Amino acid sequence: MANVLELVTKEVQTLRESKMYKIETPLLGPQGGIVKIKGHEVVMLAANNYLGLSNHPAVKRAAAEGIREYGYGVASVRFLCGTQDAHLKLEKKIAKFVGTEDAILFSSCFAANEGFFASVTNEKLGCETYRDVLYSDRLNHASIIDGQRLCRNETTEKKIYGHADTAELERMLEEDKDKDYRFRIIATDGVFSMEGDLAPLPRLVELAQKYGAMLFVDDSHAVGVMGKSGRGTAEQLGVFGKIDVLTGTLGKAIGGAAGGYIAGKKKLVEYLRQKSRPYTFSNSLPPMIVFGAMAALDLLMKDRSIVKRLHDNTAYFRKEIKDLGYTIIDGIHPIVPVMLGEAAVAMDMSQELLKAGVYIKGLWFPVVPRGEARLRAQISAAHTKKDLDRALDAFEKVGKKLKVIRGEFFQNRQNHED
Ligand SMILES: Cc1ncc(COP(=O)(O)O)c(C=O)c1O
Repeated sequence: MANVLELVTKEVQTLRESKMYKIETPLLGPQGGIVKIKGHEVVMLAANNYLGLSNHPAVKRAAAEGIREYGYGVASVRFLCGTQDAHLKLEKKIAKFVGTEDAILFSSCFAANEGFFASVTNEKLGCETYRDVLYSDRLNHASIIDGQRLCRNETTEKKIYGHADTAELERMLEEDKDKDYRFRIIATDGVFSMEGDLAPLPRLVELAQKYGAMLFVDDSHAVGVMGKSGRGTAEQLGVFGKIDVLTGTLGKAIGGAAGGYIAGKKKLVEYLRQKSRPYTFSNSLPPMIVFGAMAALDLLMKDRSIVKRLHDNTAYFRKEIKDLGYTIIDGIHPIVPVMLGEAAVAMDMSQELLKAGVYIKGLWFPVVPRGEARLRAQISAAHTKKDLDRALDAFEKVGKKLKVIRGEFFQNRQNHED
């Protein structure tokens, strides 16, 4: 018989040798535009703290009030005795913000995504025999993939279309249109975290309508970020209110603590309260987080200047880093992929940048295609212009030292693809 510890130790060793080992650097204080790590303070370009609310006084005050008024935890799942009126209030607030009838809270968006697909497809719902079909973007988040894995293969067909490839999706839908499926569900991230690009939602809405499919969008990187008022990808792309099911996290822009949600029609949300296992059988969100998230949403609904600052900072950084000679993937999202090509270059660059006062993470194969290693900068409303300039100075200095400022990356990528 194999020894578990022996095999996992070998696997970890392989991860180290292949430079896939994930290194955790402790922060010695709160998340922010500038963070403290051992030895020095650095500009943070790796957090999902898009609106800078994770250490915002109003959010912290609300969280403290949550503890004072409602205690530290509820020690129960929602249907036993884990529902406080604050949970219901937050659910209403989320629904209003993202433009749906209702919403339901989960401990995380990972749990929300795991809790959606199987709860809909694994139940007979009065149908003795049935088959459902899922269409999923190739670059969807791990939690969507895992959520769909929970759907039984005997009753659910799982199809993957090329990233943002609505022509391929349409071909699949057309091919399947006369098949006797019970449910057709199209699933996509609203914003994809590796490239910072937006899903083609207007076309997906059209296709869902044309082929009688339900459209599911995980807006974790977009809620609080995209659109003039931060209501997400649908607001940004002019299809607000037209998405059937929206999921999102409270662990990025909306305070950055934890928690997730599914938002949609009232009847669907009522059903999920009964049947979604990560909701039904897992503790409800702590009051501190519920209050913090409500304060974050209140701030957003009252004051558009925070989202505007994020958009302005993003546009500034995108322009300046290009002017330095770096190649980025163009776009509008605060995720700014700085393309470097070789994994070794991205690794050296992130280490040198840390020494120069910038905390940034690299991505390389197999997380992104071979030869497309990159640093992923994430811009925040918490950054001042001075912080961004400090980061840009470091990029200039390190880029020159490592001779990576070329601006040729996309020409090479293009030739390679030709
Ligand atoms: C697109 C997407 N969905 C879901 C999640 C998971 O969110 P949470 O941290 O709330 O579990 C993430 C987090 O990285 C994400 O990027």
